[in-house]
This record gives sequence, C-alpha cells and structure tokens, in this order.
Amino acid sequence: MQPIAHLVKVTIPDYLGNLPIPDSIGGWFRLSFKDWLALIPPTAVAAGLGYTFYKAFCPKAREGGPRRVNHVVQLSNPKVVDAIDVEDIADQAAFCRCWKSKNWPYCDGTHATHNKQHGDNVGPVIVKKKK
Ligand code: FES
Repeated sequence: MQPIAHLVKVTIPDYLGNLPIPDSIGGWFRLSFKDWLALIPPTAVAAGLGYTFYKAFCPKAREGGPRRVNHVVQLSNPKVVDAIDVEDIADQAAFCRCWKSKNWPYCDGTHATHNKQHGDNVGPVIVKKKK
C-alpha cells in the first residue's frame, strides 16, 4: 500500500505541479517547444480517460455498438436477405427501408415514429406493377 500512497500523495501532485501550465491565456503563447512537449503526455492521458468515461457512461456511445442500422429484423441472422416474387405482389407493395418494421420486409408505418423521434426522413420504397 505504501507505493500507491506515495504515488497518489507525492509523485502525481509533484508531476502535475511542475507542468508548465500558464497563469493566463497569453501565457499559452509564450510556452517554449519543450513546454509543449511536456504537456503532451498528461493531455493524452486526460483525453484517454475522457474517451473511456464517455464510452462507459454515455448512453449514446453504448447503444448498439458500432452504429448498427438494424435493431429489429432477424437479429440472429448474419445477413438479412429477402426475395419477393413479383408475381406475388398485387398492384403495389411498400418495402421497408428504415429497418424498424414489425412486418419485414414490408413497411408497416413504423418509419413515421422513427422520423418524428429523430428528425429523420426515411420511408418505404413502393413497387408498382405496370397496368
Ligand atoms: S416501416 Fe420502415 S419504411 Fe416504413
């Protein structure tokens, strides 16, 4: 415990106290190249800690991992692929492009709720048969 206590009570405060942080805004412009080099490690650590806390605690950063589009349709499939026979379409069919329909691959109007909540403008693609 002694080394950790020394690190927290002596080493880190001494290190931070010796950083060339100016007392005024104008002081930043008078820093030497060596002073700027000395500020890189603590800045990198602060940025890393900030990013780590952001990823850990910000709900936006955590939701759905790396920006998934599909949160609803056939989530257990590695790839969602649908084939529709044109002959099975009556006069027209609306296919979902927002990935939120409960009646996939057809549009069920859920895009309207999504658009309202997120200020988006997505909608279905409508396939019509020639008459
Ligand atoms: S529900 Fe997805 S486009 Fe309409």
